[in-house]
This record gives sequence, C-alpha cells and structure tokens, in this order.
Amino acid sequence: MSAEYCISLKDVQEARERIHESVHMTPVLTSSSLDALAARKLFFKCELLQKTGSFKIRGALNAVSKLPANKSMAVVTHSSGNHGQALALAARMRGIPAHVVVPKTAASCKKAAIRGYGALIVECEPTDESRAEVAAQTVTMTGGVLVHPNQDPDVIAGQGTIGLEVLQQVPGLEAVVIPVGGGGMLAGIAVAIKAIKPEVRIYAAEPLNADDCYRSKVNGMLTPNLRPPTTIADSVKTSIGPNTWPIIRDLVDDVFVVREEEIKVATRLVWQRLKLLIEPTAGLGLAAVLSSRFKDVGHDLQNVCVVLCGGNIDLGDADWLREPL
Ligand SMILES: Cc1ncc(COP(=O)(O)O)c(C=O)c1O
Repeated sequence: MSAEYCISLKDVQEARERIHESVHMTPVLTSSSLDALAARKLFFKCELLQKTGSFKIRGALNAVSKLPANKSMAVVTHSSGNHGQALALAARMRGIPAHVVVPKTAASCKKAAIRGYGALIVECEPTDESRAEVAAQTVTMTGGVLVHPNQDPDVIAGQGTIGLEVLQQVPGLEAVVIPVGGGGMLAGIAVAIKAIKPEVRIYAAEPLNADDCYRSKVNGMLTPNLRPPTTIADSVKTSIGPNTWPIIRDLVDDVFVVREEEIKVATRLVWQRLKLLIEPTAGLGLAAVLSSRFKDVGHDLQNVCVVLCGGNIDLGDADWLREPL
C-alpha cells in the first residue's frame, strides 16, 4: 500500500483490536424483494443499529482511545450530528469532556442526542469554513484535542473496521457501496478491503447536489463543493478532504451520483421492505444500486453490500414525507 496514504490495513486491524469490545458487530440483512428490484443479491450492513445510531462511534472511539491518559484532557469536534454524538459517547466512556461544534441548522434530534451523551454544544454557520473556524476557537479556549470527523487518520482507521466485518459476513462479496461525505468511511473501508481482497469493487454513493467526490474523480484533483449543498442526505453535505482524497483517488472504483427523488424512493424502500428506520443519507447506497448507470457498470456483479450508515432521523422535521411519490 502506498506510503502517501494516512492509514494502512495495519491501522484498521489495530483499531478493531482497540474498539471491538465496545461497539456492536452490526448484522447484515437481506431482502428478496429488494434483490428482485436490483436484479442481484444485496447485503445490507446495518450500521444504523450501531451504538449512537451510526458507524461514527467506530472512528471516534478509536481516536479517543489513543489519547494519552490525562484527566484534564478534553476533545473538540465539528459535526452535522452523528460524529458529534459518537465523540460525546466516546469521551464519556473515557471520562473526559467533549465540546461539539454543530451547524445551527442540524436536526434537533441530533443536537438533543449530543447533549444527552453529556457534551457541550457550540453553534456555528452551516458552512465548512465556519465549522473549522469555530472548532479552532474552541480548541484554543478549552485546550482540547481536535478530533476531525473525517480527516483524522484514527477516525478513518476506525471506520475501516466496517470493511473487515463485511469481508467476514458477506459470502462471495464482489462490491461494497458506501455513502460519502468527508470520505472517512469510504477511505477506511477502501484501505481495508483493497489490501485483503483487491478484486472487490469499492463504490461511493453521493447526492447529485453535493457531488464533490464525483467531480474530484473526474477532474483528477480535490474539488470541494463551492457552496453549502442542499440535500435531504444531511449527513454528507461536507466535502472530501486532503487525507481521504488520495485514497479515494486510487482505491475507489467509481462514484455514483443520485438525485433527491432517488434518495427519497430508496429510503422509503428500506423502511418498507427491510423495516429499518434509516436516515436519508443511508438511502444513498440503495439509490445508487438501483440507478441505471449502476446497472451498466455493475452488470456482472452478483453479490453487492450496501452500507446502511445511520438511522438518526427526526421524523417530525421530515417534510418530504408528506410529498406524493
Ligand atoms: C450517517 C452518516 N453516513 C455517512 C456519513 C459520511 O461519512 P464520511 O464523512 O466519513 O464520508 C456521515 C457523516 O457524518 C453520517 O453521519
């Protein structure tokens, strides 16, 4: 594996040793009706059933576990919600304070959950620049350690443990479809799986309205979103970054962009057919698999794993549920 990447398979394996007793090995579920729709066998990795309702606890716990033992230590992060909840819980497990910078517009259930895990919330504007700026100020004020939600190598390695699990859980795995925001989950899984089974294809799924990963791959260079994106997949509004980009550039086979309508349809399908209350971001993978481009690119694939990354949805705020299909 290239030395220019911020993590290696060994980092992911060590992360698993560090966290496996504290996180769930989430189940993989199947649905014959969704198999029929996709015309292949689908395996759903249920990270919505993970502690804190998303995969984010894997990376947060790995990062916090590596901090030197020091009672006066604090951790700081910025997060649209799920990483904030995860870091709050990880810090509580270690007995240290957490300060979480959250966009004013984040779902109220996510803010309540962050507070519920004992962290302090600091509000910012809903832009990547404001998040980074307010987090830096909070680090200065508290003397805390910044745990970046998707560019911290320990976070990326922790998310990669999903890859080790699906290799064990999915018989004859040929491809994995992974929602991408900052790319921590995508990069971690890609490093783990490509090192062990390079023939398994790694696909990213992204909203068309937040398509920086797709455009970065097309341009051959990191191309962040210029404006704050508008999408119901609210956990992936952020852009990929300097640590995840080289891994995505080299190890991700393709990026599928999907329209808002496709995300809504796929999210409802998972609710109805799998009876799993995913958040719309977790509908991205199925939306990608059901897209016409996937049918072309993946025409030869039989066994495809879709990562259902989270289930933190505020049903009271989901206006789109009242829209006719
Ligand atoms: C549920 C969910 N899915 C996907 C993502 C995207 O993860 P990453 O930023 O590592 O690409 C996030 C990030 O917050 C998330 O909370």
